[in-house]
Amino acid sequence: MNVLIVGAASSLGQPITRRLADAGHRVLATSRQGTKRPENGATWADLDLTDPTSIRNFTESTAVEFAPLGTLVILAGVLPGRSLVDYEDAEIEQVMTVNFTGPTRLVRDALPLLDQKAHVILMSSVSGQRGSFDPIYAASKAALIGLTKSLATWLAPDVRVNALAPSLIEGSKMFVDMAPEVRSRHVARSATGKLRSLEEVAEAIHRMTGPEWADRTGEVIGVGDETI
Ligand SMILES: NC(=O)c1ccc[n+]([C@@H]2O[C@H](COP(=O)([O-])OP(=O)(O)OC[C@H]3O[C@@H](n4cnc5c(N)ncnc54)[C@H](OP(=O)(O)O)[C@@H]3O)[C@@H](O)[C@H]2O)c1
Repeated sequence: MNVLIVGAASSLGQPITRRLADAGHRVLATSRQGTKRPENGATWADLDLTDPTSIRNFTESTAVEFAPLGTLVILAGVLPGRSLVDYEDAEIEQVMTVNFTGPTRLVRDALPLLDQKAHVILMSSVSGQRGSFDPIYAASKAALIGLTKSLATWLAPDVRVNALAPSLIEGSKMFVDMAPEVRSRHVARSATGKLRSLEEVAEAIHRMTGPEWADRTGEVIGVGDETI
């Protein structure tokens, strides 16, 4: 299967890209120009989600060579970790563009490249369901859930659209950057009392590319508080 992973150099993207390449998929991975890219069996391309021209150029050139796409996974996302009063106007725009508007444009422009039975997987967050200290991050992730459910209905019954909404992932960049007391609050709020690992998320996405997900669409899947 041809798979496109957007934000593949992120801390979550690296194990996911490796897992899907190891499973035998032909993986096209994107990052911004200049980002350090691991050797993991993927073909790499430049993509900046804040630049509509970059998105259009990508979907009209490199991505065409990987059509039809069986799976499209969009992972890119930023978490400034600020309270509303600390947000400048430009930063609100930046977070909404990377986390929501850019992915929305990308899905729209990539529609002609999707296989008839393709699976689109968007990376939301538990913050999009229950809110966060950072309200702009939470709002951008909530918007992805609305997008997921709307597109799932529109594209049914062939193309499936699902979202992942993990809680904090142990070992991720967001985890590493977080103050220990904030991490502890995440652990305390999880139903199981422990955080999931990067490998568990990679495995969850791998399973979502398989036959057991052939009829599932419009779902928001927790990885942390619930089991996938
Ligand atoms: N980590 C967690 O605990 C957790 C929990 C729930 C949800 N999530 C979600 O999972 C995703 C990955 O998280 P992570 O912790 O692995 O993130 P990360 O390592 O901090 O990586 C951030 C990603 O966002 C990309 N990005 C930033 N600005 C961009 C732009 N203008 N255009 C395109 N890409 C841009 C980065 O691209 P470059 O590689 O080019 O820099 C990178 O791939 C995010 O959407 C996050 O919200 C994470």
